Amino acid sequence: VSDYCVQVRELGYRLQELISESLGLEKDYIKKVLGEQGQHMAVNYYPPCPQPELTYGLPGHTDPNALTILLQDLQVAGLQVLKDGKWLAVNPQPNAFVINIGDQLQALSNGTYKSVWHRAIVNTDKPRMSVASFLCPYDHALISPAKPLTQHGCGAVYRDFTYAEYYSKFWGRNLDQEHCLELFKN
Ligand code: OGA
Ligand code: NI
Repeated sequence: VSDYCVQVRELGYRLQELISESLGLEKDYIKKVLGEQGQHMAVNYYPPCPQPELTYGLPGHTDPNALTILLQDLQVAGLQVLKDGKWLAVNPQPNAFVINIGDQLQALSNGTYKSVWHRAIVNTDKPRMSVASFLCPYDHALISPAKPLTQHGCGAVYRDFTYAEYYSKFWGRNLDQEHCLELFKN
């Protein structure tokens, strides 16, 4: 587990560098803003459910952190993402992770990268496991749309906030309410 955490962190950093560059920012822009990043791991276990249509493994939500690296169970599907108003299955692929953009990267990129709605459903006869690794800004990181991305068009879509402020707002509501970033719009 410890080796896995170290490796996954390195992968997350590389992705953050590439995302920065893709936005026309300095390679270490995102890493600098997020500071000493926290890292959480959730080993999700979804037991079989005789009436899977009555419940969810996880209700629809966006991830409140910066970037999530998800390892799926190869044998059992369950993850879905919301695209154009429809829930689509994200089936497991061998030797592949699912990368979720979290709310903080949506804010930093001024909405260019989207923190997608996703959920997990359960199965009638098979249990499912997934391993989610969350990279999180340090509590006092000041999150604001990167200046170069606010200079044309709509300006800054979101106001400045600290991750601590965001996190308490996020968990102070129901998970499947409106996108939490809506509450931080300018
Ligand atoms: C999560 C999550 C999805 C899954 O832990 O935030 O979205 O497939 N997990 O378990
Ligand atoms: Ni999630």
